[in-house]
Amino acid sequence: MKLKINIAIDGYSSCGKSTIAKAIARELNYIYIDSGAMYRAMTLYALQHGYISPEGKVNEDALIPALDLVMINFRYNTDTYRYETFLNGQNVEREIRTLQVSNNVSPVSAIKEVRMKLVRMQKRMAESKGVVMDGRDIGTVVLPDAELKLFMTADPTIRARRRFDELHSLGVDTSMEEVLRNITQRDHIDTTRAHDPLVQAPDAIVVDNSHLTLDEQFQFVMSKVNQRLMTQPAGN
Ligand code: DC
Repeated sequence: MKLKINIAIDGYSSCGKSTIAKAIARELNYIYIDSGAMYRAMTLYALQHGYISPEGKVNEDALIPALDLVMINFRYNTDTYRYETFLNGQNVEREIRTLQVSNNVSPVSAIKEVRMKLVRMQKRMAESKGVVMDGRDIGTVVLPDAELKLFMTADPTIRARRRFDELHSLGVDTSMEEVLRNITQRDHIDTTRAHDPLVQAPDAIVVDNSHLTLDEQFQFVMSKVNQRLMTQPAGN
């Protein structure tokens, strides 16, 4: 058997990173880690404790000293076959996907101390290899030595349409305009923030999935994975 590798997937909001990351992890029997869920859980914590004003301003002086009290982890749900996010022992998988969290997550994830804590945890999770991790800074900061790096992108209107359909199917009442505004705003903050901004790693393979079906993406990415695995030494 080939030694396991780590796969880093970065890219813009709502361009299907997690769908492809989960599919690859399932195919390879690897662990999928949704780093965005950790930033979302941190944002939920800040909202629950009143550290974010109604105008969206984060009270860093209150949040930073509280970081040691925030425990985030994933547990595998054997009924749904999915990893679910836990915040201080509570399952928050649904709550972290709300628009309220989406609208406040970028300023929280721009805070240096928040990133330092979560990046440290993410590096530790990938130490034993066999991980597919998606996010914004995985190939550049969290796993700069990942054996395979992908950078995913898609047209913003196409991303907004997909996200709108997903929210609609979950019963969330919103409009295309609001979803597009949220995506554009997050792209802007994610790419321009001072700490670990979203940038394409020089050795990442770009996947523009604007006009690709899920199956086409999966076949393309798996061909890259298999090419990379062929050059891996054998292990036990
Ligand atoms: O992948 P997502 O949309 O669930 O991520 C939510 C937010 O978390 C995203 O707007 C930016 C932030 N994030 C980050 O800063 N670094 C990561 N590695 C992952 C997500």
